[in-house]
Amino acid sequence: MKRLICLILALILMTGCGKQEPEQPEEETLIVVGISQVGAESDWRVANSESMKSVFTESRGYRLLFEDARQIQENQIIAVRRFIQQRVDYIVLMPLSETGWDSVLQEARDAGIPVILVDRMVDVEDDSLYAAHVGSDCYAEGRKAVTWMERCYRGGPVNIVHIQGTPGSTPQLGRTGALEEGLAAHDNWNLLARLDGDFTQAKTYEVMSRFLDELPPGQGIDVVYCENDNEAFGAIEALEKHGFRCGRDVNVICFDATRNALKLCKEGKIALAVECNPLLGPLVEEIIQTMEAGQIPQKQHYIEEKQFTSKTITQQMIDSREY
Ligand code: AHR
Repeated sequence: MKRLICLILALILMTGCGKQEPEQPEEETLIVVGISQVGAESDWRVANSESMKSVFTESRGYRLLFEDARQIQENQIIAVRRFIQQRVDYIVLMPLSETGWDSVLQEARDAGIPVILVDRMVDVEDDSLYAAHVGSDCYAEGRKAVTWMERCYRGGPVNIVHIQGTPGSTPQLGRTGALEEGLAAHDNWNLLARLDGDFTQAKTYEVMSRFLDELPPGQGIDVVYCENDNEAFGAIEALEKHGFRCGRDVNVICFDATRNALKLCKEGKIALAVECNPLLGPLVEEIIQTMEAGQIPQKQHYIEEKQFTSKTITQQMIDSREY
């Protein structure tokens, strides 16, 4: 028996069996990008995620780690920490709301990983905690809507229902801020209600229906100011169920101007759609390529945006819409 064991051991040594070469990790040739997305709450958000995924592909030289936070900021913080542990090359963050980012951004900076903010902004003491921001000027978008209302209503009372987006997020703060200024500047603008639609169709339908159920008979509504398209879809559904004719009794305003909103604009159900462009993937890539070339990217990139009204929209505008 002893001789047999010795023979087997000798054979193992001769054939090199049991000798494990330490595996060499393959060298990463791709640029690793970790994206923390807010969720999939709106058509805009879906188009924004698609834009990122179509740019950061392996065939274009990237490895993408994509995390959907399902509208929970804590999930985003966990995702950013995971990206830091994974030692990604860049972190792309679409922050749910503006506050609460200082510590995790500091951790990314300590790890030497640049953070690019996309779409929404963060409210931090030290703006060197992020490399660049690319997105919309949401206050300017709100100003466009308020200017349109000023032109549309020149006298008499204007009864307004305001449906807000996710509290504390950049689009909510900017679009609400512009409307608040409009309300303060016009004695004849009456705010009937301020409701939280959280940028979703379902929640807006629910809160708007409840509000309309309790509306005193004969109370008119002139404007429903929705802070995104999906809120407008929910509001229109609720208004129509309660007998309001959108575009005749009441003017619905929204932000984003996705294809579905433009269609409703052409039908006259949306009076004004202010554009908020979600196709930000190519701009984020430009920022990354600037840094790859050893240069400092421009800190703030606001994109040019248009607006559409039921009076000026054309079928060609709808057909050429990419999102
Ligand atoms: O931050 C952009 C906003 O968030 C869009 O207006 C909205 O549709 C989205 O959910």
